[in-house]
Amino acid sequence: MPYSQNFDVLIVGSGGAGLSLALKLADHSLRIGVLSKFALTAASTYYAQGGISAVFGADDSIESHIEDTLDAGAGLCDADIVRLTVTHGKSSIDWLRQQGVVFTEEQNAFGEVQLHLNQEGGHSHRRIVHTADATGKAVSLSLIDRAQEHANIELLEHHNVVELITGYSTAEGDQLPTKRILGAYVLDSRKQKVKTIAARVVVLATGGANKAYLYSTNPQSSTGDGIALAWRAGCRVSNMEFMQFHPTCLYHPQAQSFLISEAVRGEGGKLILPDGSSFMQNFDTRLELAPRDIVARAIDHEIKKRGIDCVYLDISHKSEQFILEHFPTIYQQCLEFDIDITKQPIPVVPAAHYTCGGVLTDSHARTDITNLYAVGEVASTGLHGANRMASNSLLECLVFAERASEDILQKLADILPTPPIPDWDESKVSDSDEEVVVSHNWEELRRFMWDYVGIVRTDKRLSRALSRVELLKNEIAEYYSNFRVTSDLLELRNLVIVAELIIRCAQQRKESRGLHFTLDYPESDNSKTAQNTVLTPCLNKAPGNQI
Ligand code: FAD
Ligand code: SIN
Repeated sequence: MPYSQNFDVLIVGSGGAGLSLALKLADHSLRIGVLSKFALTAASTYYAQGGISAVFGADDSIESHIEDTLDAGAGLCDADIVRLTVTHGKSSIDWLRQQGVVFTEEQNAFGEVQLHLNQEGGHSHRRIVHTADATGKAVSLSLIDRAQEHANIELLEHHNVVELITGYSTAEGDQLPTKRILGAYVLDSRKQKVKTIAARVVVLATGGANKAYLYSTNPQSSTGDGIALAWRAGCRVSNMEFMQFHPTCLYHPQAQSFLISEAVRGEGGKLILPDGSSFMQNFDTRLELAPRDIVARAIDHEIKKRGIDCVYLDISHKSEQFILEHFPTIYQQCLEFDIDITKQPIPVVPAAHYTCGGVLTDSHARTDITNLYAVGEVASTGLHGANRMASNSLLECLVFAERASEDILQKLADILPTPPIPDWDESKVSDSDEEVVVSHNWEELRRFMWDYVGIVRTDKRLSRALSRVELLKNEIAEYYSNFRVTSDLLELRNLVIVAELIIRCAQQRKESRGLHFTLDYPESDNSKTAQNTVLTPCLNKAPGNQI
């Protein structure tokens, strides 16, 4: 029995990027499908804490936000993209408020109500709009509500894309046929059946690849699927060496890498060693509010040098009322582990947090494949360069959702209907009898990525990691061709590709810059203009599904 569906626009991902785009398109009589690998809220967006950067402060300016972003990006930001993004900060916040998101407010000296603004690392001004310390939850729930109400949006939970479907066609005026997107094969995990979804436009909004590392602040969904799918289909991928490690993740055996927001440092939280002494003065004049790469490396250095398990973040000098008002979620979560942050410092370690690189896109979120877009953390737009500044990510999701929607609406009428697509063929596979292969390889991959491709790298560590990737790739390919797909297998198959892309990008960069630090080349190469790392797939080696 064919199991299929058809949409005008298929959006893969129900985070901030995917849902914003769906809502921006929904009033234009389009049939829009939004896929989510797990539940709708299982996305990094839901867990975002600090907030969204935008210029609202009386003493702040667009130019200052641009300058800070460029500075954090260590010479690799695309200045036009930075300007484009930053200038849309206020309108993006206004749009979210129209969708029902309620942000934290305060009264100014004249008794007027205004947005309360947080401060975070790398920002020279207070400019983080937030909902206490659970901004992502407020954004996600409002966008999900709006999307659920909209007749043109169909939300499909527990739908995991297996592979993109592409084909060649010659549009009027073109000399040569171009590769274009036709849809996707999607595993409906509840029915354990692969569905064929045809779509005139497909948008990858699948988030980051931070689960490639043993310790990550991210939810289960961040396995870099969109990057691997686009790569297999023939898109270029860029700057994958710039994996961001958040400096302060709760250190506790039972805590699943719970984030302690940078806003805690923004409000005066101090980083200290087990003996109570501070150390950031040895690394940067901006102390706790230096950009993330610097703070994470400083903590990593202290932990390794002293053989300690963690450092501590102390906000207990602030009043209990202040802490409860600003950080209710963090307070509660820590209390569950018997840490009262109003009275004691919080044990913290760095953890993989954000993927600065990804699928190479232009200023309208277009990829190398016609009618395939990438929006949000999955994309490499040029905004973040070698290091993303705090709270610029949700802003990027919103701005590029808008850019993609403009482009899609402009050209949709000219996009040809999709040709017939063959169903997924399961005739040659059986159910796996060795799930342990998948779980073992997951474990192994994330461990060697943490040990060899983490905060501090060397040529030797990278080549060790690459040889392990090669072994795993072969094992996983064999498994994939013999057994029926499962969600875990699909994620592992994508993760191993993403791991390879991270390592290969890191190997190409013979310098240290932003988030990429290697002991073999500890300085930035300032003898020439900094270059992005761009990888181009060799399609004979890595075919997607072409018809
Ligand atoms: P996500 O929100 O991660 O959504 C990805 C979606 O894609 C999910 O629905 C997932 O199910 C779906 N998906 C993935 N693969 C598949 C597949 N194969 N098939 C179907 N669906 C798939 N940024 C800020 O700017 N400010 C902050 O305060 C902030 N705090 C953060 C705190 C935490 C703990 C974390 C983890 C991140 C934080 N970030 C913050 C980063 C920011 O939250 C993310 O970069 C952003 O939310 C990414 O949004 P997205 O829509 O691109 O992806
Ligand atoms: C945080 O609240 O520290 C996360 C902010 C971000 O990742 O942008």
